[in-house]
Amino acid sequence: MAQMNDTPDDYSVLPDLPQDVFTAPLQKPEGLGDDWIEAAQADYGAGDHAIWDDLFARQMEILPGRAASAFMAGLDKLDLSRGGVPEFARLSEELGALTGWSVVPVPMLIPDHVFFWHLANRRFPAGNFIRTRETFDYIQEPDVFHDVFGHVPMLTDPTFADYMQEYGRAGWKAMRYNRLKALGALYWYTVEFGLIEESPGDIRAYGAGILSGPTEAQFAVEAQSPNRIMLNVDRVMRTDYVISDLQPTYFVIESFENLFRQTVERDFDRLYRNLAPAFKYANSAVIDVDYVVHRGTQEYLLRGGRGSGASAV
Ligand SMILES: [Fe+2]
Repeated sequence: MAQMNDTPDDYSVLPDLPQDVFTAPLQKPEGLGDDWIEAAQADYGAGDHAIWDDLFARQMEILPGRAASAFMAGLDKLDLSRGGVPEFARLSEELGALTGWSVVPVPMLIPDHVFFWHLANRRFPAGNFIRTRETFDYIQEPDVFHDVFGHVPMLTDPTFADYMQEYGRAGWKAMRYNRLKALGALYWYTVEFGLIEESPGDIRAYGAGILSGPTEAQFAVEAQSPNRIMLNVDRVMRTDYVISDLQPTYFVIESFENLFRQTVERDFDRLYRNLAPAFKYANSAVIDVDYVVHRGTQEYLLRGGRGSGASAV
């Protein structure tokens, strides 16, 4: 096992989780090793494949013009429209040839340090299970549709693929400083809920949390309610976020190169030393340093959000 104070870090070995770092207590299912990888992908029935196909068809009604071009190109490159839940082995082969990434089956959630370790080695851990007809419209836990449809196409983009690996490597430092929460906010506002301005005024979604559901793709890109603010890494890592509802604020990047530069070239040692353990900014806040693309009305939030049945778009 690597020591947390070793520098440079050896990303090939699973890091130890420092004693004082809190992460969600997860029970490892029987039979799994330290890498938490399942022996095989789930055996999906015809009903499961039909759920995938219906989810796929619904997203394809909504995403053209709203999803980032890199995402749409990724769907094509991996031929994800061929029908049924994709086989991870085939996906890994195709993705491997494009950017050196692979997709590995894991249980629903895995510990942070194991997640970082996989990303640092260009392995994307994807949930095995698929939602049911009852949870077709909304599911909080990431299922295979969210993980594969939402995340994997972006891994065909070379710059974004590098960003994901660097994000995994950044986990080592965040654990050392006990600032996983801040690094988690960066993931949330980029990999899960990120927007990109592809040309002046043309804002698209590249975040998997947006792209794997029908409502948020419209809400994030065109609704009046949410703020759209240019990404500033220091600010984002101090910002709280919502897990079970639409985001009051989205952060916009200029390009994947810019995202890579902002994060990888940033001195995170200095950032973490100045960072309080708790978030400083509410998720709906607009602050002085913000470069605001759209100041949201926050109408959806003010009406009570999902719990109130407020209409999002
Ligand atoms: Fe995700």
